[in-house]
Amino acid sequence: MKRIIALFLMSVVLCQAQDYEFPPGFLFGVASASYQVEGAWNTSDKTESIWDYLTHTNPSVILDNSNGDIACDTYSKTDIDVELLKNLGVDTYRFSLSWPRILPNGYNDYIDQDGVSYYNKLIDSLLANGITPVVTIFHWELPQSLQEIGNGWLNRDTVDVFVDYADVVFSLFGDRVTTWITFNEPHIFCEFGYSKARMAPLMNLDGIGGYECAHNLLLANGRTYRLYNEKYREIQQGRVGITLDAAWYEPGSDSEDDVLAAERSMQMLLGWVAHPIYSETGNYPAVMRERVDAMSEAEGYQTSRLPYFTDEEVEIIKGSADFFGLNHYTTELCAAADSFDSEPSFEADSGANCYFSDNWETTGASQFRVVPWGFRKLLNWIKSEYNNPEVIITENGYGDNTGDLHDCRRIYFYNAYLSELLKAITEDGCNVSGYHAWTFMDNFEWASGYTIKFGLYNVDFNDPDRPRTAKMSAYNYKNIIQTRKVDWSYTPEGFEACEWE
Ligand SMILES: *[C@@H]1O[C@H](CO)[C@@H](O)[C@H](O)[C@H]1NC(C)=O
Ligand SMILES: *[C@@H]1O[C@H](CO)[C@@H](O)[C@H](O)[C@H]1NC(C)=O
Repeated sequence: MKRIIALFLMSVVLCQAQDYEFPPGFLFGVASASYQVEGAWNTSDKTESIWDYLTHTNPSVILDNSNGDIACDTYSKTDIDVELLKNLGVDTYRFSLSWPRILPNGYNDYIDQDGVSYYNKLIDSLLANGITPVVTIFHWELPQSLQEIGNGWLNRDTVDVFVDYADVVFSLFGDRVTTWITFNEPHIFCEFGYSKARMAPLMNLDGIGGYECAHNLLLANGRTYRLYNEKYREIQQGRVGITLDAAWYEPGSDSEDDVLAAERSMQMLLGWVAHPIYSETGNYPAVMRERVDAMSEAEGYQTSRLPYFTDEEVEIIKGSADFFGLNHYTTELCAAADSFDSEPSFEADSGANCYFSDNWETTGASQFRVVPWGFRKLLNWIKSEYNNPEVIITENGYGDNTGDLHDCRRIYFYNAYLSELLKAITEDGCNVSGYHAWTFMDNFEWASGYTIKFGLYNVDFNDPDRPRTAKMSAYNYKNIIQTRKVDWSYTPEGFEACEWE
């Protein structure tokens, strides 16, 4: 009896979601990032990025001691890959530029024409096949030489050097690229790279490094946006945004303390970078300002560990994005937490302890669980917090450890998350204009190396040719793009149907 009721409820849920269609003009794509796929790490005059340097000097930081030296070798497979994208039917392809491949010295004194040719070929080939490039300027590949000058993003001068780099890429590619993303995931990059020593450049300045890094990225984003306005917007008619990562933080209980802890986590993990750009007032969220200032003072610091913007900087950063790029993977439950050691840390500043429910489906990545309803709540939070900005989902996806072609749990993830997205658009009026699946093909997943596979296409990393094979989820995604809806009963030819329970 219980089973029959469950089946009945399931079919009600499934039918409802099937009724909604993605609106006209909604764009579908897939996403990737240069270091994770390109390979060709030492081609032409390219120098090491902080990720080349990290994986070469400190391979044990990577779960399988691997690196991106060859990765998927997309550097030499543009034709094959664009053909796959065309076949998949995507409107957009989000990829990133490798800074040291274009400017081997980091500075704009020397442009490597081979690097420029590679990106020109990719962009031209996408456009020739009706696919719009969405280009990330910085997806974590700081030239190592700049890291060695004043610790990279801890150094205010890096802001100027980045703006010069952005100027170069606008002038090289902006005649054809009209959707730009300045930075990918400042929170992850700065916190794990400069505070927690879990990613390049492996710095361990908890409670300090992450704040300084993000402060400089925010300035660089604001200055880059103003540069585009002044020098390029009129001629190139493009748009410049930034991609922020966010989980949904749900209160762990109904207690007022936990409700506040969850909201504080939203403000400190997403609002940290989003509030200065997208809020009406600009600057850091008030609760973050108050907490880090108070914690710093209690710890004996004479000035807050969270840097201050000048009034002029607040204005440069406020409104410095034409859209809100969002990467979303998971949901967490948060409880208030006040007992931490005396060492400064982002967690202590946040005063929250966030965790997973045991009931949530695990994935191949321990930091992510499958919680589709959190996606809708997050989109609604962004809508109400920042006056319904245009949101482009720049990443969302499911990782496993196998790379299996019959990947029903990935299909479940996409169908369920896209159904929640449809509800957010249709029922809640959330202003979402596009979606990018993470990721195009299995690749080098940063500190997880090749142990976690998020691809719609499998890549055989044991074969020097790196052959790509469509997984069942690629066909499912293609069907969603074609029909503009989620169809739980769709089974591509040659595959056994998935069983939903
Ligand atoms: C580039 O790196 C590879 C290892 O990934 C090495 O075998 C090759 O010799 C290097 N090429 C140059 C020109 O340094
Ligand atoms: C969505 O965002 C775009 C771009 O900012 C804006 O023009 C449009 O009015 C917004 N739509 C809604 C429903 O708020």
